Amino acid sequence: MRELNPFSYAFHEDPYPTYRWLRDEQPVYRNDQLDFWALSRYHDVVEASRDWATYSSAEGTTLERLDPRLGEHLPMMIFLDPPQQTRLRALVSKVFTPRRVAALEPFIRERTLHYLTPLVAAGGGDFVKEFSALLPMDVIFTLLGVPSEERNRLRELIDASLHRDPDTPAIPASAAEAMAQQVRYWFALVAERRRRPQDDLVSHLIAAEVPSPAGAPERLTDPEVAGFLNLLAAAGNETVTKLLANAIVLLARHPEAYATLRADSARVPDAVEEVLRYTSPSQYQGRTLMRDVELHGQTMPQGARVLLLTASANRDERAFGDPDRFDIGRQQLVPLGFGYGVHSCLGAAVARLEGRVALEEFARRVAHVSVDESRLQRVHMSNVHGFSGVPFRAA
Ligand code: HEM
Repeated sequence: MRELNPFSYAFHEDPYPTYRWLRDEQPVYRNDQLDFWALSRYHDVVEASRDWATYSSAEGTTLERLDPRLGEHLPMMIFLDPPQQTRLRALVSKVFTPRRVAALEPFIRERTLHYLTPLVAAGGGDFVKEFSALLPMDVIFTLLGVPSEERNRLRELIDASLHRDPDTPAIPASAAEAMAQQVRYWFALVAERRRRPQDDLVSHLIAAEVPSPAGAPERLTDPEVAGFLNLLAAAGNETVTKLLANAIVLLARHPEAYATLRADSARVPDAVEEVLRYTSPSQYQGRTLMRDVELHGQTMPQGARVLLLTASANRDERAFGDPDRFDIGRQQLVPLGFGYGVHSCLGAAVARLEGRVALEEFARRVAHVSVDESRLQRVHMSNVHGFSGVPFRAA
C-alpha cells in the first residue's frame, strides 16, 4: 500500500514519484495513521492557498501540531490568520520592499566573494558547509542585528530544532531543547536592545508603533518581537541554504544549463526560478480546516489537518509541460515555491537576490562544476527539503 509520509527518510531522497501517484490517483489524499489530508494538484493548491478563511494557519503549518502555548509565548505571523497576521506583516513589510532589498546587493556580493574565493582557489570543498549555510546566515543576521560571534551557534540550533527522526512526527528531545535555547537567546537579545538600542531590526521592532485593534498606537510586546526574530531567523537561513545547494547539484547534473549561464548571466534569474520549481526547499504548507470542504467527490471535515503540497503542484503536468525536465528556459506560471496568498513569502526578493548574486559569481569563476553524488548528505526535516553536505569540485 503506497503512502505519503513526510517523515520517511526514503521519501526525502526522492518525493516526486509519490507526488505523481497522489496527483493521478489520490488528489484528495487521506492518511489515517498520521491523521492528515493532502492536496497535490496545482489548481487545488492555489485555490486552497488563496482561501485563508477556510484553510487556517493558526494551528501551525507543519504536520506536527503546534504547542497551543506557543501562540502566547512566541506569536509568529506565519501561525496567525488575518487580521492579526496582517497587522504584524505590515510592520516588517517595509524592510523587504524592492528598494530596501536592492540596497542589500553590494553587501550580499561582498559576503558571496568572501566565502567563494577560497573555495574556488582550493578547487572545491563542501558547498553547504563552506558556502550556502553561511551566506544566508550573514544576510539575515546582519539585518536582524545578531552579533557575528553568536551566528554559527544560533544557526546550528535552528538546524537542530528542525531535525526529525525517521517515520514519526514526534519532536525529538534534542530538537525541543535546541528550540528552547533559541527562544531564550531571542528574549535575551530583546532585553539587551531595550537597554542599548542599535540601528538594527530588533531595535526598530521594539520602537515601532502599531495601531491596536481599538485604533490607539501601541508597542509590540517582548514575545511579539522575539517571535519575529525566531521566524525571520529560521525562514531566512534554512530555505536559502537549500535553494543555493539544490542549484549547484542541478547545474552539475545539467552541464548544458550551466554553460548557458556562463555564456549569459542575464539567464541567472530564470535558473533560480526553475531550481525553486524543480526542487522546492519548502515542500508543503500545512493548514487546518475551518469548515467541511468537498473536493473531487470527497469530504474533508472541519478541524482536519490538510497539507498543501506546493512541491507537487510545481511538478503538475496539468500546469507545466514536461514537468520532470529541468529547463531554465521555461515560461513560468505563478510559481508556488514561495507559497501563495496572504502568507506568501515575505523574504522572496531577498532570497531571489541571494540566489542571483551567488550563481552569477559562481558561474563567473568556475568553468566546470561536478558534485560527488555518492557523498551527498540530506537534511531530514518536516517540510524543508535539501542537503546538509554537497562535496563539489570546481575547475
Ligand atoms: C528560497 C528561499 C525561501 C523559500 C523557498 C521560502 C518559502 C516560503 C513559503 C513557502 C512561505 C509560505 C508559508 C505559508 O504559507 O504557510 C514563506 C513565508 C515566509 N517567509 Fe519565506 N522562503 C524563503 C526565504 C525567505 C527569506 C530569506 C525570508 C526572510 C528574509 C523569509 C521570510 C518569510 C516569512 C516572514 C514568511 C511568513 C509570511 C507570513 O506569514 O505572512 N523567507 N516562505
